[in-house]
Amino acid sequence: MRRGSIVALLGLALIAGGVATAVALVPTWLPEDASQQAGRIAFTFWFVIAICIFIFAIVAAVMVYAVIRFRVREDDFEDGPPIHGHTGLEITWTIIPFILVTAIAIVSAIVLSRNDAQAKDTLRVDVTAQQFEFTFSYPDAGNVTSPVLMLPKGRSVELYMRALDVIHSVFVPQFSVKEDVVPGLVTQLHVTPTRLGTFPLECTELCGLGHSLMRSQAVVMEPAAFDSWLKKQEKSAGPPPSSTTTSPTSTATSTTSTPSAAGLTVFNANGCASCHTLSAANATGTIGPDLDNLVSYAKKANRPLEAFVRESIVDPNAYIQPGYQKNVMPDNFGQTLTKSQLDAVVGFLVQSAQKSGNK
Ligand code: CUA
Repeated sequence: MRRGSIVALLGLALIAGGVATAVALVPTWLPEDASQQAGRIAFTFWFVIAICIFIFAIVAAVMVYAVIRFRVREDDFEDGPPIHGHTGLEITWTIIPFILVTAIAIVSAIVLSRNDAQAKDTLRVDVTAQQFEFTFSYPDAGNVTSPVLMLPKGRSVELYMRALDVIHSVFVPQFSVKEDVVPGLVTQLHVTPTRLGTFPLECTELCGLGHSLMRSQAVVMEPAAFDSWLKKQEKSAGPPPSSTTTSPTSTATSTTSTPSAAGLTVFNANGCASCHTLSAANATGTIGPDLDNLVSYAKKANRPLEAFVRESIVDPNAYIQPGYQKNVMPDNFGQTLTKSQLDAVVGFLVQSAQKSGNK
């Protein structure tokens, strides 16, 4: 091979590699790391990307060089010279990919096993997924429940996840971990948060009409703040599970005990806004009936307003407003509320329905 060809090939490889590197590095492809797992996943990702750029540069350089250098002249109809393989070259292009693929497999296996390794003081959180909300509970703290995943920074956490209806999936992009939640199974997901903050927690399995609204948050707090949050919840929870003013990010939480404030809290904590519109709660969901029209729905169902609202929560299939489907609202929805929560949310809905009048 002439020296000029080698220089040309090297130059082309540098250009192709440079362009590919810029595409890899300039846009922000990955979310910021917020867990130990995310750091390792990012390492694996960049390890594979570096190998890909290396291979791409070689292939692109040879291809561009060949297209330019060996282009036929217009009057040239001859066949190329017969070539019968090149043992050295074949061994080379078998061994190099073998080494690279083996290296990727080893790195991935190490990362996966480290990512799943629980520490001694692992915190257990039970996750319940149903159309279209997540509920998180803390079995080591009297089964305190929360609509938001609260986590202490720096502690190993294992989620034990159950689905009540169809397949859902839990994903926090900043944690770089994701796992399906399957009816009949308890799936597990391990994460060790490393950064304080509030991160989106999304369902990433198409699970029905409200799938795109099935979102919650993962809130990472200082361990001391987390402990005092848990203690406070435990105290205020009382007997059955109560999920109320737990979200530090929610603007609607109010600890005053006026009936409508309590009802609004129940409304927000139970994901009602994912599916329903209600101007009193700034809710704009469109999966289920518009709750600003409750007065006219009750009339249509031929029931007194309050009894109608209560029945629609406790037994959602009893009356289906024309244009909507049965079984979209979970029929055990009312059972997840305590008596006082149910009373509060019914009172709140009746009050705001009367306010918004006979639309
Ligand atoms: Cu649950 Cu999508």
